[in-house]
Amino acid sequence: MRNLIDTTSLEIQEIEYILESAKKFKHYKPSQLLQDKLIITLFFENSTRTRSSFEVAAKRLGASIVHLDPEKSSSSKGESIEDTFTNLCAMNPDAVIIRHASNTVAIELSDMNLTSVINAGSGNTAHPSQALLDLFTMKEHFGDVRGKKIAIVGDIVNSRVASSGIKLFTRMGMEVILVAPNSFMPQDTLLERYEDLKDVIDKVDVIMSLRAQLERHKKPIFENYEEYASKYCITKERLKDKDILLLHPGPVMRNIDIDDEMLKDSRCKVLEQVSNGVFIRMAILKFLLLES
Ligand code: CP
Repeated sequence: MRNLIDTTSLEIQEIEYILESAKKFKHYKPSQLLQDKLIITLFFENSTRTRSSFEVAAKRLGASIVHLDPEKSSSSKGESIEDTFTNLCAMNPDAVIIRHASNTVAIELSDMNLTSVINAGSGNTAHPSQALLDLFTMKEHFGDVRGKKIAIVGDIVNSRVASSGIKLFTRMGMEVILVAPNSFMPQDTLLERYEDLKDVIDKVDVIMSLRAQLERHKKPIFENYEEYASKYCITKERLKDKDILLLHPGPVMRNIDIDDEMLKDSRCKVLEQVSNGVFIRMAILKFLLLES
């Protein structure tokens, strides 16, 4: 039984294998490889992309998928997450895909060794399927990402996308630099840090813009996000005609993270990331449930 809590548990050749499988799924009609498998999704935080993408991926491979809505579950009657999980596992699923605000719940549940646990986002620490789909999108564009420079821009300290991305991209030979106001910048990093976007725009191959994670702010950090946008919003005026790939995990705060015009620009791969997410998650499910 294999879990996916973060990409650090994957060997480089396993990462390459998942990317290769995703590429095949993108170009060939999917088969019913998982037709005897049962997968449960358990999302304690809201999601548009990750949940639907995992569910579409499972269905494309012929798996049965059941979603338990925590708000309508017996969690609301005081049942602990461990008991909820144990009871779901008594139904013999092949995997439980979980998102939780806690940094450690997915690890704790995987340590129970009852089923394969797939982390669909934990606190601000890990979002492995997002990191893999971002890497896949960059590899599709560049071929080899080794030596490419990516600037992660925005609320980095509160972002699990940034946490998983930094670990995966550096491991794959990319150079990661961080651009953020001080309140959004991790202080315990060895990566190059910048406060001003204009200082990096001539140096990078990729910009990954991130949303302010308002749900994780204990108190409002900016009174006015227009002021933040005036410094960090990705616009055509800022990018000009530079050959820079623009990524964002979503949801995009329009005209704060990226402006309307730039969202329509061919350099912006936000919807391509969403499409690629399905193929990556098909590859993850195949790898974990059939090949590990
Ligand atoms: N990228 C991402 O995690 O989006 P959702 O929160 O909509 O799943």
